[in-house]
Amino acid sequence: MDRNQIKLLVRQMTLKEKAGQVTQLPSRYFQVEGSQLTGTESKLGITEEEKWLSGSILGKMDAKSMRRIQAETMRRSRLKIPMLFMTDIIHGYQTIFPVPLALGCSFNPKLAEKSAAVAAREGSSAGYQATFSPMVDVVRDPRWGRVMESFGEDKRLNADFGSAMVRGYQGENLKEPQTLAACVKHFAAYGAVQGGRDYNGADVSEYLLRNQYFPPFQACIAAGAKLVMAAFQALNGVPATANRWLLEDVLRTDLEFNGTVISDWGAVPELIRHGVAEDEAEAGEEALRAGIQIEMATAAILKNIEQYVKLNSEIEGLLDQAVESILLLKDELGLFENPDRGVNPARERKELLSRENKEAALEAAWESAVLLENNGILPLPLEKPVILAGPYAQSRKILGPWSVDGITEEAVSVAEGIRGRGGNLSCVIPLGMEEISEEEIKKTVRAAKQTKMAVLALGEPEAWSGEAGCRSEIILPAAQCRLVKELHENGIGTIVLLFNGRPLDLRPIQPYADAILEMWFPGTEGGNAAADLLYGTVNPSGHLAMSFPYGSGQIPVFYNMGSTGRPKELLEEEPRYKSQYLDIPNTPLYPFGYGLSYTTFEISFCGEIRRKQDGTCLVPVKVTNTGKAAGKAVVQIYMRKIRSKTARPVKELAAYRKVMLQAGESICMEITLEPALWNYWIPNLGWTKEPGLYRIMIGTDSRCSEACCDLIVE
Ligand code: BGC
Repeated sequence: MDRNQIKLLVRQMTLKEKAGQVTQLPSRYFQVEGSQLTGTESKLGITEEEKWLSGSILGKMDAKSMRRIQAETMRRSRLKIPMLFMTDIIHGYQTIFPVPLALGCSFNPKLAEKSAAVAAREGSSAGYQATFSPMVDVVRDPRWGRVMESFGEDKRLNADFGSAMVRGYQGENLKEPQTLAACVKHFAAYGAVQGGRDYNGADVSEYLLRNQYFPPFQACIAAGAKLVMAAFQALNGVPATANRWLLEDVLRTDLEFNGTVISDWGAVPELIRHGVAEDEAEAGEEALRAGIQIEMATAAILKNIEQYVKLNSEIEGLLDQAVESILLLKDELGLFENPDRGVNPARERKELLSRENKEAALEAAWESAVLLENNGILPLPLEKPVILAGPYAQSRKILGPWSVDGITEEAVSVAEGIRGRGGNLSCVIPLGMEEISEEEIKKTVRAAKQTKMAVLALGEPEAWSGEAGCRSEIILPAAQCRLVKELHENGIGTIVLLFNGRPLDLRPIQPYADAILEMWFPGTEGGNAAADLLYGTVNPSGHLAMSFPYGSGQIPVFYNMGSTGRPKELLEEEPRYKSQYLDIPNTPLYPFGYGLSYTTFEISFCGEIRRKQDGTCLVPVKVTNTGKAAGKAVVQIYMRKIRSKTARPVKELAAYRKVMLQAGESICMEITLEPALWNYWIPNLGWTKEPGLYRIMIGTDSRCSEACCDLIVE
């Protein structure tokens, strides 16, 4: 269908039919087995007939139920408009990949693209056509539980990984039945909720919004994302759901989004609790006027549409635009010709958890893990006897939050991974997460004395991160910290594997651990990946997508802070009047971009930066693997504008490249700096090209101490 045919269809629809299209209902209202609500429940207050007018369904689905519901929709629909099926496929459907924060640490967006393509093949086979992913909220506060859903603190990583996911989900052509439409979320600045407490308001200057928080959305829109979800929270006082400036002026005009805008779960009636709407009717109208085109999980618009139109005829125009965009999406997905999109239980069985899909998940888990400490204890020789202890020693609960359709029993635990890879496990001691008794500690020490070496699988329970999973202190439970210390004090080589969904304050264990390998929530293949990394079959190559603070009191701490007039490093002689804490350092425990390997790399410039006519610059970089093992280096280029109209960040990630090098191998390469890097949003001026002097710094983390040079941009 072309746009005119869609417009014609809209013209034939009744007001109620149109309001139905903008309504999205949870699948449990359609009696789908195993479905559940992810948010606060409310009575819908609509009739059975109105229910079947809804344009889309969210939540639990399977091939059989989808076919049944679609057939019923087509039977009931006067104009034969198919239903759209959406859900949260965030880091895999049944084959679960590492959580997005972990994927970000791979510094390899191709892996994210592949993970999304696998998720699309699996999810579409179960009857879904769209997913509420990627989330590209820049996050600077690790107390916020949803940090695990983002690609971390940097806009570039969020932009690159988000757009890679969009391409992976949507493929070349959405009409192909194994694709999913992507919904980028949560617009905007949900990652900046005050105090890291979920659903709190976010007060973010326009300067930061334009320069840091919006660019990842822009990248996903440019990659063709079909939907955008408005955030739950108020932004600078106005709830995103009712924020016309955000949803119209910024999203439509500045970011040139022409797809469909959806609210978050129940966010329309929440406008009443925000205090900006009197009742449900007003909330629905506010949302529609601001630019919401699908109301998720509630039916305020459907119930009140006649009243809106009676009082104000221009509302129908907004409704028509919303319906037009929804029908266009359904058409792009091929639903009008093929309402089932080739879904059947046989295809579903073939796709789910296939060997190929698990291999992709394993590769992603390898590259997402970050080696934080290693005094030479790793890699372990395969024959070396070790004990394995801790809450994650044999737990399969390592899929991580937002793996709604993941199957825990399908995950490979650390014990299974080590055994499967031929490791020499002398014993496995599963322990509690928060409580480990004296007796258990003694037993672990006794067992470890036999092998002189212990692998501890520690971390946070899955429910401590994810939506509404916020914490005020981000330390491991005291009992786990104690275990590390006891083993160390008994002369035992202590290797810590961490399973968690956020950066942690690791100071309580850092002095006592011989190695720390951050596994995050690694997904279905987690245990296999852990074993491959422990034994050095695979060399760790992840680098932090988010700083690990020195302590909770340092939060927010991130690598690209704005410059200050009194920088600590530059005022060495001044004891007091400079930007510092009296009790802790300014720098995080592990900075953004940091990660160790079983080999070492040297990085240097190998020539002059080449400038092209269009503003592109090519930075010649030489990388040498100076160690004894093959491995992947993450070459990072940071830039700093030396003089600007604003106090710009002390540095910003400008480009990066991950390369594989054999031991002793050297390569020279040119890394591209795009012309857009020279533009910055300046208050009162808007987007402005800032020519002049830039400092270009290279390294393997954000301290980028390896080398720097000056670049004049004309
Ligand atoms: C979350 C969204 C999610 C939606 C649907 C909400 O609670 O904030 O990210 O897509 O639920 O499950």
